[in-house]
Amino acid sequence: MKSFSNSIFLLFAVFSLINGKMYSQMNNLSGVIPAPNSVINIGKNSGLKEIKLYIPEEAKSAYFDHLFKDLKMVSWQNEKNANAIGAIDKRMTAEGYKMLIEKDKISIRAGSKTGLQHALVSLAQMLIHKGLPLPQTNIEDKPAFMYRGLHLDVGRHFYKADDIKKFIDYMAYYKYNQFHWHLTEDQGWRIEIKKYPKLQEIGAYRKETVIGQNTGQYDGKRYGGYYTQEEVKDIVRYAMDRNINVIPEIEMPGHSLAALASYPELGCENKKYEVATKWGVFDDVYCPTEKTFQFLQDVLDEVMVLFPSKYIHIGGDECPKEAWKKSAFCQELIKRENLKDEHELQSYFIQRMEKYINSKGRQIIGWDEILEGGLAPNATVMSWRGTEGGIEAARQNHDVVMTPGSHCYFDHYQSLSSDEPLAIGGYTNVEKVYHWQPIPKELEAEKRKYILGGQANVWTEYIKDFPYVEYMTYARGLAMSEALWSKERDFKTFLTRYEIHNDYWKSKGANIANHMYELTPKVWKNKNGNINVSFLLPRGANILYSIDGQSEKPFKASQIFELKTSGRHSFTAAKGDKKGNPLHFELDFHKATKAAITIDPAPSPKYNSGGNAGIINGIKGSNNKFKDDEWLGFDKTDATIALDFKMTTDINTINCRFYRSEGSWIFLPSALIAETSDDGKTYKKIGEITQFNSKENISEVEIKTNGISSRYIRLTVKNFGTLPADHPGAGKKGWLFIDEITVK
Ligand code: ACM
Repeated sequence: MKSFSNSIFLLFAVFSLINGKMYSQMNNLSGVIPAPNSVINIGKNSGLKEIKLYIPEEAKSAYFDHLFKDLKMVSWQNEKNANAIGAIDKRMTAEGYKMLIEKDKISIRAGSKTGLQHALVSLAQMLIHKGLPLPQTNIEDKPAFMYRGLHLDVGRHFYKADDIKKFIDYMAYYKYNQFHWHLTEDQGWRIEIKKYPKLQEIGAYRKETVIGQNTGQYDGKRYGGYYTQEEVKDIVRYAMDRNINVIPEIEMPGHSLAALASYPELGCENKKYEVATKWGVFDDVYCPTEKTFQFLQDVLDEVMVLFPSKYIHIGGDECPKEAWKKSAFCQELIKRENLKDEHELQSYFIQRMEKYINSKGRQIIGWDEILEGGLAPNATVMSWRGTEGGIEAARQNHDVVMTPGSHCYFDHYQSLSSDEPLAIGGYTNVEKVYHWQPIPKELEAEKRKYILGGQANVWTEYIKDFPYVEYMTYARGLAMSEALWSKERDFKTFLTRYEIHNDYWKSKGANIANHMYELTPKVWKNKNGNINVSFLLPRGANILYSIDGQSEKPFKASQIFELKTSGRHSFTAAKGDKKGNPLHFELDFHKATKAAITIDPAPSPKYNSGGNAGIINGIKGSNNKFKDDEWLGFDKTDATIALDFKMTTDINTINCRFYRSEGSWIFLPSALIAETSDDGKTYKKIGEITQFNSKENISEVEIKTNGISSRYIRLTVKNFGTLPADHPGAGKKGWLFIDEITVK
């Protein structure tokens, strides 16, 4: 019996190599997220009407009861009566599994208890999202990355223990295996430490919370809470039962105001500290005294009893050095330890803590600032400020978890809609997350083994309750799970599965976001100087298209729309009873639309997705914050924009639009200077504007030329300059956003 099924597995392994094409089609049939590595169709549907499951006693977990609880066709049986039998085969990769679904039976083999869980999750997903009959298939699966994490910040906002369990259930369902629990912050200390009761009495509560994005207004309501050690134990057990490791994060030396408010003697100054009531980075941080090290060791002693995790996260990010620069003690310590500066003092701090944690048989993991002043010997680095820190650490032969802000920060906006709840700036939609490659291209092949995997982070400044967490996490988490698990990815087939899973979470009452019917267009200028627009939508969806309010006509969503005339072009995504909001392009072909454009300096790579020509394409940037492809963003610089019409052209007006969102550091310019030239070398000034309407988010200005004829126009846009004293970025420079330049 055994050897027969072994040879069947072997046969299918060969078959799967020949028949790789089946892959995406079958993945759709299976309805499983993240997509298994290989799914091969081996016949018509299975005849199984009931799934009588057997797995060895030692592999059972309470999670399986939860997983199958709504599936009436699944029951547990003894081995003799079962028709779906799972076994552990230690020769396989620990997290891998093979599942053969035949006419009258299912055979599962997995490398470990965890692998068996992954197999049963895949089976449950097929039954929940597709139902009976199951397709006769041979599935072979294992993760692309060993570290597949989700992070949750409970410092800024606090969620009940039961909500944390929901989060963990979601993780298990998508084969995540690391829950990074960010437990301490400036705005609240969230874990009971018995030796230091003031962490609970004082550190766990703030007197009020700033309203919105640091508006300067406060809600006047005391806010807080913490997890008791009993709750923590229960959650860790709950996660372990789902083969998920919980990594506790105890932040140091920065982000520690709640601890300083509880025990002011841990700070560098003799003063009263308060638990923070607004967001940001604070100068008050732990002072590297023996008292502080003793405190942190005592805290970690209790933490390490509660968390069996090999990794203990010590934070390490965003630690300003102001307090250390002012402190006589710190300066003395720098001298005594022969350190170069405060950055090396940070390294000294982390290395001391690492030594302690290593002495207890654990390892530290920290944000990429722990590279400052020299990396602690056994540290694992979490690369969040882009990928550079991760690349550097891997080159130094350190393990790395990738979590760059560009793709992994689920506190960013995920939609272009102006109805979105408040988020940190930035736009990271499902598609962007889906296409993320955790291993940076520039990393040398022999160092790639140090990239253990990746993680999405859920920072919660604005995320007041758990439904909001679901909103920000659950949709993008589907894409992330596939980025971390699946060897091959295909966004089109994913979209169809995404929709099925999205409906499922909605039916369970979870507040999952679905922006798939909100159109995210790709817009580009084609060879004819016209505008091409394309969309990606789940299978079966249509685009309803109309121009200037005429009646809508349905088109295949997959086609490219060529817009040839000025006017209001409207697109709406629709499928069955699902319909998105219409997307309108006010297209205005003008004299600059076909000009050649050069821009100096180049816009920031973060905000130039429409390319330089995007600001003369006849489409005006929307008022959706700065999240569409039209706006070009310039970080701290001026911008000089040169247009070449290729022939002498009559110019009557030049209109320019600028975006303003001061909370996101985007300011209107201080000046706009327009010049013309006949030879592209000598320019003559034809107008200057220094007053910009500052009430609206978008400011449009016009320069009238009184009828000039010229081949070249040069526009110089001056950055606002240093930000005002009442702005969090006071003294620094901000962003300049431009779209569109219209010449008539
Ligand atoms: C971080 O986002 N400060 C790690």
